[in-house]
Amino acid sequence: MGQTVAEKILSRHLVSGDMEPGRPIALRMDQTLTQDATGTMAYLQFEAIGVDRVRTELSVSYVDHNMIQGDYRNPDDHRYLQDVAAKYGILFSPAGNGICHQLHLERFAVPGKTLIGSDSHTPTAGGLTMIAIGAGGLDVALAMAGEPFVTPMPRITLVRLVGTLQPFVSAKDVILEVLRRITVKGGVGRILEYGGPGVEGLSVPDRATITNMGAETGATSSVFPSDEVTRRWLRSQGRESSWVELSADADARYDTVIDIDLSTLEPLVAQPFQPDRVVPVRELAGLPVDQVMFGSCTNSSLRDIESVAHILEGRRIAPTVDAGISPGSRQVILEAARTGAFATLVASGVRLLEVSCGACIGMGFAPPTEGVSLRTINRNFLGRCGHKTGKVYLVSPEVAAASAVTGVLTDPRDLAREEGIEPFSFAQPDAFLVDDSRFVAPADEPETVTIRRGPNIAPLPPIEAMAETVRGEVLLKVGDDITTDHIMPAGAKILPLRSNIPAIARHVFEVVDASFHDRALAKGGGFVVGGANYGQGSSREHAALAPRYLGVRAVLAKSFARIHLANLVNCGILPLLFQDPSDYDAVEAGDALSLNRREVVTAGSFPVRNERSGRDIPCTTPISEEDLAVVLAGGKLNWVRSKKAERL
Ligand code: F3S
Repeated sequence: MGQTVAEKILSRHLVSGDMEPGRPIALRMDQTLTQDATGTMAYLQFEAIGVDRVRTELSVSYVDHNMIQGDYRNPDDHRYLQDVAAKYGILFSPAGNGICHQLHLERFAVPGKTLIGSDSHTPTAGGLTMIAIGAGGLDVALAMAGEPFVTPMPRITLVRLVGTLQPFVSAKDVILEVLRRITVKGGVGRILEYGGPGVEGLSVPDRATITNMGAETGATSSVFPSDEVTRRWLRSQGRESSWVELSADADARYDTVIDIDLSTLEPLVAQPFQPDRVVPVRELAGLPVDQVMFGSCTNSSLRDIESVAHILEGRRIAPTVDAGISPGSRQVILEAARTGAFATLVASGVRLLEVSCGACIGMGFAPPTEGVSLRTINRNFLGRCGHKTGKVYLVSPEVAAASAVTGVLTDPRDLAREEGIEPFSFAQPDAFLVDDSRFVAPADEPETVTIRRGPNIAPLPPIEAMAETVRGEVLLKVGDDITTDHIMPAGAKILPLRSNIPAIARHVFEVVDASFHDRALAKGGGFVVGGANYGQGSSREHAALAPRYLGVRAVLAKSFARIHLANLVNCGILPLLFQDPSDYDAVEAGDALSLNRREVVTAGSFPVRNERSGRDIPCTTPISEEDLAVVLAGGKLNWVRSKKAERL
């Protein structure tokens, strides 16, 4: 039987497993990436594993998330990352070089290879036909140490594209349409593979916008075929030798098919506070806008900046609007300077923000109280962009640009009609300006490198193995679609604490319940109860490490998001599912729960006792036998160390 693109790449990297959907597969990872927000923890864990050199084809450490240098903490973290990179064979990309996903697409992504990254939008590289997967830092550390990455074999969904995008409709509208149809849960356990005749009309950055935001569907990854468009992109980056053709066989079979006629799409917008609350822009047209942000890893390519400049050419940002742009990389800036797009943006009144993630997570560019912020980013979760009252709407660069001009949410086709703006077409350079001089190669003599650790870089707190009986209070009960931003917020106040678990743990669940930290410590930990899709959002393992530090032993939910589920396991927190989801109503905050570790099984159910009601709640765990052993050992680091000790 023929294979899909995803199956071809997975089968060529299969270390063990039989590629039956839902069954564990172990994959060889060719490349890894980290960013600074998750990277310090990943490298602390890598050091704890005790390997003297990375064992991947390529590992890159990017500094892009938090560049604010208000005190010593971020600079110290950046220096630690640079020293670790030099010592262990990792390419280092310093602050100012660009956003990890844009840079990886430009300089390192290779069709047919695998990539694991400690950032949930790692699947961006699927736009260049990689199986690229976001994971927690420990899984990335293990991949750097040469261990295969274990994940359930995804089902493959074909997103069949036909037709061509109409003027002022762009790739962002494609992925917003996918989200509108399948929601933030629709991709769970799946790879979204794009195919059909509509694919050839999408450039590599267009494809990367789509695969980037596939993460919002919960998909394990998203992937496009490798074709002449791919080859042209690689040639323009001086990397044509990396090209291979890769397409699905004619008789490839897919689990499900989603058909999208690109010709019928119109500008779309995702309303607060979920990326799947998608409606046509025309339905909300006229909504007053306070702020517009262009850029982020979703829409920061030269194509996106040029499309914004095309609409802003000869126009001014409305005086009521604060607009800023975070370009994706130095290359994008240099190209936009060469074409004049940057000058157009500045002339129109757009603020130039740093080449970084900052604004995406509200650092340096946050909405005012109750303010409406249109952003070309990928997430609009509560509090994501600085604080709880800001209302973030996710839109394409074209919608953002038209709305920045009018001061209200605007369908760019209306502005184009009124003001005679011609349709935009992007002329990709034959040869991009390539300057890799800011990348720092690993040291030739690693034994001479001393890793400098500032006072903010705290040792990893030890995690003990699971006790015979786990007893504790339900510290918090939350509803459906709780995100990692709810559990462990990002932002300027918190990110500098990323390498200090006791310090960052003060902020666990603070947007939901400000007393969580103190109560959890006072009670010696306990349980958290959640609804469906618990832990959706980012790959940050701090959302598991910090609760575990506070003593959270188990999370009882209706379902879990993939990366967070893996992070819970890695950090020694037992994920539990209500066998009957209606039992969610049988547990309240403050109830005392208990379970016996000997009774926990991966096949079938086991009881979790609610001591208040005296009732045994039948529960299951969605993890494998091996993952259960990891949880019982107190997390993956303990488990790996014990395996290493056994081998000696
Ligand atoms: Fe950065 Fe925001 Fe993307 S934090 S990696 S620009 S989702």
